Amino acid sequence: MSNKMWGGRFGSGPDPIMEDINASIHFDRHLYRQDIAASKAHAAMLAKKGIITAQDGKKIAHGLDTILSEIEAGKFSFKRALEDIHMNVESRLAALVGPAAGRLHTARSRNDQVATDFRLWVRDAIDEIDAALAAYQRALAEKALENAATVMPGFTHLQPAQPVTFGHHLLAYVEMAARDRGRFADARARLNESPLGSGALAGTSFPIDRGMTAKALGFARPMANSLDAVADRDFVLETLSACAITAVHLSRFAEEIVIWSSPLTGLVRLSDKFTTGSSMMPQKRNPDAAELVRAKTGRIVGALTGLLVVIKGLPLAYQKDLQEDKEGAIDAIGALALSLKAMTGMVGDIEPDVARMKAAAGEGYSTATDLADWLVRTLKLPFRQAHHVTGRIVAAAAEAGLALDKLPIEAMQAVEPRITKAVFSVLSVGNSVKSRAAYGGTAPNNVRTQAKAWLKRLKKKT
Ligand code: ARG
Repeated sequence: MSNKMWGGRFGSGPDPIMEDINASIHFDRHLYRQDIAASKAHAAMLAKKGIITAQDGKKIAHGLDTILSEIEAGKFSFKRALEDIHMNVESRLAALVGPAAGRLHTARSRNDQVATDFRLWVRDAIDEIDAALAAYQRALAEKALENAATVMPGFTHLQPAQPVTFGHHLLAYVEMAARDRGRFADARARLNESPLGSGALAGTSFPIDRGMTAKALGFARPMANSLDAVADRDFVLETLSACAITAVHLSRFAEEIVIWSSPLTGLVRLSDKFTTGSSMMPQKRNPDAAELVRAKTGRIVGALTGLLVVIKGLPLAYQKDLQEDKEGAIDAIGALALSLKAMTGMVGDIEPDVARMKAAAGEGYSTATDLADWLVRTLKLPFRQAHHVTGRIVAAAAEAGLALDKLPIEAMQAVEPRITKAVFSVLSVGNSVKSRAAYGGTAPNNVRTQAKAWLKRLKKKT
């Protein structure tokens, strides 16, 4: 049998393989809520403009409400032969309300319909991700406040570089998440225009009110060009790009959690809730959640790349290729939402090993810069010379097998006779972090101020 939605000029139905490649219902069923909302807005507008009767408008709205509750109750049977969500809903509507259902598609095509539905879906997804990012930021800022003075090694090249505080390190991720939220907000603002009423590609000859449907669906305005409206998927690309960058941020942090929780460094302990054991090695505590967050970045970045490649050669206007915009995006957004929840849980439960962190912070002559700065400040040496003197003192300490703050003053004076005992005040890791008090630095007071400011902003719902 030919398709009853578009099969007028078809003698036979599709080959089963055609049905397989053509159907999108297994993923675009996620759009049911948006599809129904957009159809209700469209029907109300058609009735208001006298394009369909008020009675048909009512029947359609009622039928659509019934379908929504059927789907939500798990009582709706999705049919692959009906291809996609739009035709599944419309077909059920016909069964429920009869011929009025056939009037719903007046002045509308599946092309503007799917563009509208997916914009609405992506908009909802952005709101969900934004809330998840805010919760993640809150968990980070709370942990940062608790650990404003917890000293840990700061790294460059993964070598101990200068001591920092754990709180400062955590707040770096709060800043990243803030930029992520900004990117999602930008994408949301740009996507918030309505394609509905653009028809298949050229607009419609019916006297519709696109402003009315746009408003009913919470869009700022109708899109100005019907060709652009049905062919544009920038809103998916922008959102996936924001997802990819966010996922990369999470992955960097996940990688740090893997390193920090390894017994080789032993800087943090993860809770039982976010680790797993090994079926063979009873001693193992594996940071699987962090590893999976790191790994899911692959498919999220892949979804962006995939869609860029789908779109790159497409002439205007709608091409069926555009149906491939959904599966990857739905998967990527789901993966990101889950990753954010996992990271939020891990951050809440993570326990720094304060003593181990402090000891590690002092390893590798990490206060050498503090010594050089002291030489600049106290002896007025030019920084380059202070750097050289410090290098020689570090070499002496290495030779003696001692930490910098344990090296006898005489050994330092052998390199630079004007050094006094006062130098020891800057060589401890605690004093080192305390001294980094310029704006943006790791000093505990700064960290406390920043963490509190974030918690306040996050409470206000930024
Ligand atoms: N399932 C299609 C999609 O996701 C809907 C639009 C189909 N339009 C068409 N002219 N075949 O893109």
